[in-house]
Amino acid sequence: MAPIIRPATKADQSALSNICLLTANAGTSSEHLHSLPALPGLIYALPYLNLESTWGFVLDDDGQVVGYTLGAFDTRKFEESAEADWWPPLKAHYGPLLHDSDAALTAADRTYINTIMNFPRASDAMMAFAPAHLHIDILPSHQRQGWGRKLIARAIENLKENAVKSVWLGMDTRNTEAAAFYGRLGFKRFEGAEDGIMGITVQEWENHAI
Ligand SMILES: CC(C)(COP(=O)(O)OP(=O)(O)OC[C@H]1O[C@@H](n2cnc3c(N)ncnc32)[C@H](O)[C@@H]1OP(=O)(O)O)[C@@H](O)C(=O)NCCC(=O)NCCS
Repeated sequence: MAPIIRPATKADQSALSNICLLTANAGTSSEHLHSLPALPGLIYALPYLNLESTWGFVLDDDGQVVGYTLGAFDTRKFEESAEADWWPPLKAHYGPLLHDSDAALTAADRTYINTIMNFPRASDAMMAFAPAHLHIDILPSHQRQGWGRKLIARAIENLKENAVKSVWLGMDTRNTEAAAFYGRLGFKRFEGAEDGIMGITVQEWENHAI
């Protein structure tokens, strides 16, 4: 059976966390960089199954989740929801490890824990361009077969259905493959966007896709 795109559910949590880990190093695996492999997913995937104003779709190949697109309709609401419910228990759990020499943290673990301790808010320029943001990650076995384009199409359709007119995303500036993909799909830098931030309007998407 061909893979399908379906809404993400909480039952997908461990699959999403794993895909996040396997793509978190500028698009490639970060398994070897962590002694705490749950960290990337806890920051960049699982909030989208648990917080307000979020949505998600997965690429499901015969029961195996092999990719996802996740995002927030309203990034400020998402940030507030995370401040209230997501970061506090993670800060309490992971924060003390930064000062525990027995924790044997890697440099990447430290970077991610510091992100948990002080997750950066989206800039005013990003919010001026769009309230919504998204992430997309697909396992290597399913890359470059058109699924990324289909997942983004589903994401933008979902935004349109919810009266959201544009969306932005952030990428590691070393991830030139992702930049080429987004550029091919019509995403662009916008006014005030920092390096690695691109966006598209629903209108531009529809014009570009024709
Ligand atoms: C980046 C990613 C989402 C792209 O998805 P994909 O399924 O591989 O891409 P698709 O096959 O749908 O490609 C869509 C279009 O982009 C183009 N494209 C994709 N990757 C490209 C690349 N590296 N260079 C140039 N063009 C590229 C394709 O040629 C295709 O063009 P077409 O539809 O006009 O023929 C996927 O490769 C991935 O998850 N990579 C690892 C994780 C990652 O980097 N995520 C993004 C983090 S910001």
